[in-house]
Amino acid sequence: MTHVIAFFNQSGGVGKTTVTQNIGYQLSFKGYRVLLLDMDPQASLTTFMGLDVSQLDKTIYDALVSETDEPIAILHDLHKMDLSPSSIILANAEQELVLADQRELRLKMPLSQVLDNYDFVLIDCPPSLGILSQISLVAATEIIVPIQTQFKALMGTDFLLSTVKKIQRRLNKELKIAGFIPTMFSSANALDQRTLETIVDQLSPIAQVFSPIPRATSPTRPPGLCTTARTVSEAGLAGARAGCRSVPIG
Ligand SMILES: Nc1ncnc2c1ncn2[C@@H]1O[C@H](COP(=O)(O)OP(=O)(O)OP(=O)(O)O)[C@@H](O)[C@H]1O
Ligand SMILES: [Mg+2]
Repeated sequence: MTHVIAFFNQSGGVGKTTVTQNIGYQLSFKGYRVLLLDMDPQASLTTFMGLDVSQLDKTIYDALVSETDEPIAILHDLHKMDLSPSSIILANAEQELVLADQRELRLKMPLSQVLDNYDFVLIDCPPSLGILSQISLVAATEIIVPIQTQFKALMGTDFLLSTVKKIQRRLNKELKIAGFIPTMFSSANALDQRTLETIVDQLSPIAQVFSPIPRATSPTRPPGLCTTARTVSEAGLAGARAGCRSVPIG
């Protein structure tokens, strides 16, 4: 069975995209067939993969809003992974899907056509609880929640969990939370240590809390400036290695 994992947290800048990309890279490195799916109109994942968003012919948007079963747009073999890219036009889908037929299935249906080609589909969700996130959770089999190791980390978690429960109840009974990944953790920082303890205390009864991904610091190259899977993130990559080791795969 293909794992369709949504990396989901409505809070912005917690490391969703970095973790999605780097776990994808690690999985493909282990020989798994990986499709990355960029569901964020900010198109960070598409950009992190080294693509010029303005040059894209088709994006995930086309399949989501199509009334004629348009297949999902997929670019092949980028750093050993496939990518369904995004662009800012995806922001229109939030509006366009409001009244669309079977809108909850707008991602699940086209994705089902290609699932057999992959072991893992990793969905990079936008930082919102809107339609794009909802249809991502309907299409997913599992959720991983990256959560930044900082004092306000748990703010919004209740809302996140109740959204997940609603989707589980109404639209996707099989959906499971595979776990929480604390991100950007500085072991030298006492406040981060305390925050991590609180995260483990409060969230481990709900699902596994994986090893934290360290905060990467580089005097010469901040992680946000990097552009490809190999180079982006010594930050994220170092981090995702830590996280990936304990993410259940296969
Ligand atoms: N482990 C890390 N150490 C240091 N910086 C990191 C780490 N992980 C991610 N970053 C940086 O933090 C910023 C936010 O990361 P990212 O874009 O992955 O978050 P996000 O949750 O996807 O954001 P958004 O909600 O806007 O989509 C980026 O500049 C990224 O390079
Ligand atoms: Mg992102």
